[in-house]
Amino acid sequence: MRFSPSIVALAILVTSAVASPISRSDFVIHEKRHSVPRLWTRGEKLDSSVVIPVRIALTQSNLESGYQFLEDVSHPSSKNYGKHWTPKEVIDKFKPSRETVTAVRTWLEEEGISRSRIRLSPGRNWLEFNATVGEAERLLRAEYHVYEHDQSGQPHVACTEYSVPAHVRRHIDFVTPTLHFDAKIKPRDANRLPRRGVVPAVKPGTGHDIGLTDGWKPKLGQDVNVQSLKPNLTACATATTLDCLRALYKFKGFRDGHKLAKGNSYGIVEYTPQAYVPSDLDEFMTKFRPGAVGVRPILDSIDGGVVQQESKSFGLNGESDLDLEYAIGLVYPQPVTLYQVGDLVEGASFNNFLDGIDGTYCGGDDPTQDGVYPDPYNVTGAYEGPEDCGTFAPTKVISTSYGYNEADLTPAYEMRQCNEYMKLGMMGVTVLYSSGDYGVAGNSGQCIDPTTGAYNNGTSGLFNPGFPATCPYVTAVGATQTKANANLAHLPAGTQPETACETVIYSGGGFSNVFPLPAYQAPAVTSWFKNNNVPYGADRFNNSGTTRGFPDVAANGANYVIAIDGKFSLVFGTSASSPTFGSIITLINDKLLSAGKPTVGFINPALYAHPDVLNDVVEGGNRGCGTPGFTAVKGWDPVTGLGTPDYGKMLKMFEGLAHGGYGGGYGN
Ligand SMILES: *[C@@H]1O[C@H](CO)[C@@H](O)[C@H](O)[C@H]1NC(C)=O
Ligand SMILES: *[C@@H]1O[C@H](CO)[C@@H](O)[C@H](O)[C@H]1NC(C)=O
Ligand SMILES: *[C@@H]1O[C@H](CO)[C@@H](O)[C@H](O)[C@H]1NC(C)=O
Ligand SMILES: *[C@@H]1O[C@H](CO)[C@@H](O)[C@H](O)[C@H]1NC(C)=O
Ligand SMILES: *[C@@H]1O[C@H](CO)[C@@H](O)[C@H](O)[C@H]1NC(C)=O
Repeated sequence: MRFSPSIVALAILVTSAVASPISRSDFVIHEKRHSVPRLWTRGEKLDSSVVIPVRIALTQSNLESGYQFLEDVSHPSSKNYGKHWTPKEVIDKFKPSRETVTAVRTWLEEEGISRSRIRLSPGRNWLEFNATVGEAERLLRAEYHVYEHDQSGQPHVACTEYSVPAHVRRHIDFVTPTLHFDAKIKPRDANRLPRRGVVPAVKPGTGHDIGLTDGWKPKLGQDVNVQSLKPNLTACATATTLDCLRALYKFKGFRDGHKLAKGNSYGIVEYTPQAYVPSDLDEFMTKFRPGAVGVRPILDSIDGGVVQQESKSFGLNGESDLDLEYAIGLVYPQPVTLYQVGDLVEGASFNNFLDGIDGTYCGGDDPTQDGVYPDPYNVTGAYEGPEDCGTFAPTKVISTSYGYNEADLTPAYEMRQCNEYMKLGMMGVTVLYSSGDYGVAGNSGQCIDPTTGAYNNGTSGLFNPGFPATCPYVTAVGATQTKANANLAHLPAGTQPETACETVIYSGGGFSNVFPLPAYQAPAVTSWFKNNNVPYGADRFNNSGTTRGFPDVAANGANYVIAIDGKFSLVFGTSASSPTFGSIITLINDKLLSAGKPTVGFINPALYAHPDVLNDVVEGGNRGCGTPGFTAVKGWDPVTGLGTPDYGKMLKMFEGLAHGGYGGGYGN
């Protein structure tokens, strides 16, 4: 499954095609693919009596205004700052209009698909029906074939183009199954193969990594003897602990007996089979946060999510242990929620998680990419319960340390998901994603061959930005490291003890090939292009200055001391940076909620308007693709964003923005 240029062509075609006013019977091509994706072979035509599940994604209302709605509640100069929407208000604003539902349904009925066969999804955003291939071909002016994957033999039903009547076109987002391959390859036999892409990968040789990309993940360093760790912050350059982070970002956190604000919450997302080990949490807390020994996260199990304990390894436990040891260690006694997503057979994707916290998002998953629940595999461990749809409320802050390459997925798939992050922001939720660990390269250090569109070994080619970090509605968190000579116990004012992380990992950063430059970021990105000698051209990245840059912010991502599978080791990654940044936001939310103010919600507009509340990082780079990457400079840069948090300054800024009299908000 990899990016093929045909998909780029597809996106351009879809967005630029213009439906001219023509008669009802005139069909226009809605989506078209120019070539069969790499590694797939077109086989025979599908028999016209075969029944396929057809689903039509309806265009939502008001999406084009979504950014304004979000900015209205998150931009510091807005008089509605902090007046977050309720879930119901969000649903009502965006649901497809009655006109849209009627137009599409009428077309289907005219084509002989009777009303009784058509189901409208609960979120009113999908029309679903079963049709024979013959019916679907007539309806969509398409021809269905079986495609076979060259390596796995996996069959897939698809067409190369389809059309809809001109007058209903604007009501239809897309139709499945048609030409979306995006293909997650199902294993033929192995039943423990998690979904690729979002799964943090596993160190080679652990026996559980067959078929996985070497994804977004903390990287394992040497073991640490914690007994010999110096107690006085002089060792932070070689061993990052809770105390080091508190010193770097100037916060104390809560005393064990702290009276918590009502309504605060902090969620960490993990994908099965990744799992934390309870005894590791206790070992960590015994050493670094004794009051939290015995504390466990609140488990929100989505689609059969289990914290499996049968198999243990750095690959299976490193991400979860890291995220939870630091999140709990930094915010205790504030409880931390663990969203554990997917069963042991299929794993899951970001869409499965989003379904779990928003019922109206359900129904739009792509079965070639997302987990299908109830699990269709009839094997031990398969979750046969109903798909989770809005089962759990979103927490005020959600940190995820997993990611795809932007080029793994289609722009349509990514935009749909990105719009969901926008809605969460409108409801006052802060969504954080790690920016990736391979600098300007993608997962595993791969870059994109400019001719074939295939991923290469990372010594040349196009930069390979990560998703969802490039979605303008999330806060992407890059990585820094402590300078060798920095003494955090005695930091003279105005000194910057950190550089961009260049130990083991490089901070993911660059520019999107899919998402436009958001208004809140435009001044920062424009001045970066203007004030720096940009060392690469369009042969490396989209240098138009009109696309989203990332990351937004950074936090330390080097030498974290974690307890893992019974011992202490050092780990590296933006995987560490994201939960640390999320913890600081959670501490700030506690103060705001205690004062009767709203949570910070989508923080990007406020941070770009007040970059002085972050510590600018001006040294180091994020090499990749055979280049030194970009360089951290004064102001925003595509290595460390605006910089690392200064707790006190951020708190003061957000306190100043949040007017009192807050009456609504999500989940209060
Ligand atoms: C399509 O058929 C399947 C299998 O018979 C059934 O489970 C499903 O509910 C049907 N879908 C619709 C929209 O009727
Ligand atoms: C830090 O602690 C070590 C041993 O624990 C000691 O040798 C060193 O002098 C201390 N340094 C400072 C600056 O206090
Ligand atoms: C699932 O597998 C079991 C044991 O292999 C078998 O008895 C059962 O009939 C299967 N169920 C379905 C729905 O295929
Ligand atoms: C990566 O690919 C380049 C160009 O094809 C080749 O010259 C180089 O040896 C490869 N490097 C590795 C480590 O495989
Ligand atoms: C960069 O992105 C812009 C805006 O999407 C697009 O118009 C342009 O063609 C892209 N440039 C390159 C070199 O891909």
